[in-house]
Amino acid sequence: MSEILLRIDGIEVKAKEGMTVLDAARSAGISIPTLCHHEKLEPYGACRLCLVELDMRGWTRLVVSCLYPVAKDLVVTTRSEKIDRIRKTILELLLAHAPDAFDLQELAQEYGADRDRFEKEASFCIHCGLCVRYCAEVKKKHAVGFVNRGASREISFIPEVAAQECWNCKECFPLCPTEALQAAYVLTEALLSPHLHSQSSQTR
Ligand code: SF4
Ligand code: FES
Repeated sequence: MSEILLRIDGIEVKAKEGMTVLDAARSAGISIPTLCHHEKLEPYGACRLCLVELDMRGWTRLVVSCLYPVAKDLVVTTRSEKIDRIRKTILELLLAHAPDAFDLQELAQEYGADRDRFEKEASFCIHCGLCVRYCAEVKKKHAVGFVNRGASREISFIPEVAAQECWNCKECFPLCPTEALQAAYVLTEALLSPHLHSQSSQTR
């Protein structure tokens, strides 16, 4: 695999073909915030928080670094007034869903985001898709998925699959940046309670 040289925040970075700008930055110890990225999962590009600026012969272009592939002589800026302003607004929109989420609060502090800028949304889910993709791509179980569209898009456990697979897995729980996943599971568990108990007692 051929080596590619690019410049990130003024530092010359060596990357391999097929890497993304996010991979290359992280390999050089340059941090870019992410909310929907996971090294075991295919890039998704949902949260847009990882956006960076490319310098193309005097023109600048914003791209999502978790999707954008490295290329020879690319000049990347990961932090600027413009980038910080956009990240701040993205965080404020996400905080409308989950104002108390620890990960969001930490980022909000760094980018000066106001958790009360936008009217609160009923759902805690920020649609990062980590739970859905982890269950499908890593566990190959498809126990949790998105339902509905647009503003009412939500995650939901598939009761029949969850009853078989989730009670002794729950590997997706720590991935969720908000409380949405656990809340959805608690609801599913309550609905499936007798069934889940019989599953766990069968394996004792
Ligand atoms: S429930 Fe959590 S992990 Fe799943 S999509 Fe929503 S925010 Fe992401
Ligand atoms: S981490 Fe790149 S869009 Fe979410």
